[in-house]
Amino acid sequence: MTARRCYLTTPIYYVNDRPHIGHAYTSLATDVMARWKRMDGYEVFFLTGTDEHGQKVEKAAQVAGEDPQAFTDRVSMSFRHLVDVMGFSNDAFIRTTEQRHKDACQALWNRLVEKGEIYLGHYEGWYAVRDEAFYGPDELVERDGQKFAPTGAPVEWVREPSYFFRLGAWQEKLLRFYDDNPDFIAPNTRRNEVISFVKSGLTDLSISRTSFTWGVKVPNDPSHVMYVWLDALTNYITALGYPDESTEAWKKFWPADVHFVGKDIVRFHAIYWPAFLMAADLPPPKRVFAHGWWTNEGQKISKSLGNVIDPLALVSQYGLDPVRFFMLREVPFGQDGDFSKRALSGRLNELANDLGNLSQRTLSLIQKNCEGKLPALTEPTAADLELLGPISELPAMMGDCIERQAFHEGLEKLWVVVRLSNAWIGQQAPWALKKTDIVRMAAVLRHLHTAIRTIATVLQPFMPTTMGKMLDQLAVPEELRDLAGLATPLADGIALPPPEVLFQKVQDEVA
Ligand code: MSP
Repeated sequence: MTARRCYLTTPIYYVNDRPHIGHAYTSLATDVMARWKRMDGYEVFFLTGTDEHGQKVEKAAQVAGEDPQAFTDRVSMSFRHLVDVMGFSNDAFIRTTEQRHKDACQALWNRLVEKGEIYLGHYEGWYAVRDEAFYGPDELVERDGQKFAPTGAPVEWVREPSYFFRLGAWQEKLLRFYDDNPDFIAPNTRRNEVISFVKSGLTDLSISRTSFTWGVKVPNDPSHVMYVWLDALTNYITALGYPDESTEAWKKFWPADVHFVGKDIVRFHAIYWPAFLMAADLPPPKRVFAHGWWTNEGQKISKSLGNVIDPLALVSQYGLDPVRFFMLREVPFGQDGDFSKRALSGRLNELANDLGNLSQRTLSLIQKNCEGKLPALTEPTAADLELLGPISELPAMMGDCIERQAFHEGLEKLWVVVRLSNAWIGQQAPWALKKTDIVRMAAVLRHLHTAIRTIATVLQPFMPTTMGKMLDQLAVPEELRDLAGLATPLADGIALPPPEVLFQKVQDEVA
């Protein structure tokens, strides 16, 4: 049996600015998968952190009038704060200015030198500081006589001595690797983009700069700092103890199971990173999943438009779990999506009307009609199986979706069952059975309890606090809240606390 272990990462975030919804989104998806895997009995290592070197951060520090280290110390804290506010369950938080990380980068560099993968030359070409990326002349677009990267970032002409990584020599090996590992890049659109980019020809990659100093020094040539992406990508192995490959963490968790990234940084993760690793004789990660981008009320999000969405403000206005639910329910993970007040209100009302209503109705009937005690479990009838059948399939269904990072699909399919449960309660009408068949009423309420327990358990990774409260109301003991726990029925007759409303309805807001 393969070990039940799982290593999941978010990108490490540039500390040039405050956290925005994009940062919260990538980490949220990673958090949900990490929580799911833990609940499924896996040993999980979930890593996030901050990317603190490079020209972009150096410039931001200059603009702020601060020394880069003091600046990164300060801004990095705001990303730690985001972790707390969003309830992320990461096991570690890495900063690229940590000494252990600089050591790891230099060790990887030395290994690449030993393998003959690095040579000294001269770089001349286009560079976009905003993307921290080099672009070929044919990739650029021209507007008003000025050249821009395909991402819209301004580019500048750079000419300086530089070390190169022999990326060109990895073209065929990468293509073979993608072929042998069809799940390495997802979704498929991104996989196709990457493959066609690699097929169009790879040139050697400039991996050092001399025109600024805020970076990891190149071993034996301190006039160069490493290209920030070589530095940044290495964080995924630093955190496991690299270059010490004898650590427990390294042995347990490398290669990573999923690197969660946004679509804009696929090239670095799906081309450069496996090439660096294979060149250093290290195994590449198993999968890179790229999500899409949010727009705000139909508009591209940008600082200049002043429409950046602040996740902290959202959480303080709507509450954490509704925001977490909204982000993964609203947009298929992997596609672009639009953030609108109207869509958000719709999803919040869905929580209140469908899930809130289901549990509130069931639990208050148990409170009122069964003295607040859990009715006894009975053999299900054919009618009961119409509810219990689909309910029993939820854990496996969600597990399968999460394995494919199809969070939206998992929630969509789960919601079908929430609605079915509401329809079922309507058909069974336990409130009417109170007068006609009290035994049947009790049986119906017990099956509803089972249904809600399963739904709340499966939803815990998405809405940890609220589902925790729901499981409290259902009197599910802590030790039975994981997936394995679902197999153990609760004892008949245990006391349920009086139910409380868990989701508030909101007025439809139109922006
Ligand atoms: N530092 C690099 C990553 C290095 S990983 C070894 C970086 N940082 S970032 O702070 O600019 O971006 C982090 C993430 O935010 C990316 O995954 C990016 O896709 C995501 N987003 C930025 N804006 C976004 C939206 N408007 N919508 C969704 N995600 C977006 O890149």
